[in-house]
Amino acid sequence: MSALASSTGRARISARTLRTDRWWLPPLMTFLGLMAFVVYGLVRTFMNQWYWVPEHNYLAPFFSPCLSAACVPGSSHFGQPFPDLGWLIPPPIFVLPFVLGFRLTCYYYRKAYYRAFWASPPACAVGEPHGRYTGETRFPLIMQNVHRYFFYAAMLVAAVLTYDTVIAFKGTDGGVGVGLGTLLMVVNVVLLWSYTLSCHSCRHLIGGRLNHFSKHPVRYWLWTKITWLNGKHMLLAWCSLASVALVDLYVMLVAAGTITDPRLFN
Ligand code: FES
Repeated sequence: MSALASSTGRARISARTLRTDRWWLPPLMTFLGLMAFVVYGLVRTFMNQWYWVPEHNYLAPFFSPCLSAACVPGSSHFGQPFPDLGWLIPPPIFVLPFVLGFRLTCYYYRKAYYRAFWASPPACAVGEPHGRYTGETRFPLIMQNVHRYFFYAAMLVAAVLTYDTVIAFKGTDGGVGVGLGTLLMVVNVVLLWSYTLSCHSCRHLIGGRLNHFSKHPVRYWLWTKITWLNGKHMLLAWCSLASVALVDLYVMLVAAGTITDPRLFN
């Protein structure tokens, strides 16, 4: 074991940090951003209405896929395998564990919420309040290793949202049409795919465990593209999080009749 690995303590300075910049600002912003999303998600899930606009096939992303017998008519594109379990278990609950699991175990979000919520550590070169550090070596944090499996589930969810977006090109007369909602759904699904494909697990899946890139030119080419996307993973994590919430809010407002969907054509 190296001297570094066997080191038992940290630098012996009494100050919690010697940093003089506003190191607390990024974790604070992260905390506020993630909390805003969690609160919106909870309110929206238990609101359990205004998620389907039949005129244009707009389905709110929080309710997709809608797999429960409680889903409003027309909103279940993939059947209703789950029964109506009342207000305590609204339809999003059946999909939420997969979507949430993907984000919670994401390498970027781990860094973000370890800093913002657990202060472990709150920032580089800032002492943490915890006496002991066991990292991700014990339960429950050792479960972070299942991220790659959530990646497969996230691919499925992204495919479902892509389907939702394709059928949202529905015009007022039943033919093809495009409204502001359609465009927002397209942007959302592009961001979601970009975030999902920029995942570290995806990068490993495509280019990992290869001894010779030269013998796998297609995988190497794909790996270079995913590596490029991977460099933007943090940005994509935030943009896709915001776009999911914004599209959901937009569909809710249209479904509730609060706003009218502006149509580009039909
Ligand atoms: Fe962030 Fe996989 S590392 S989604």
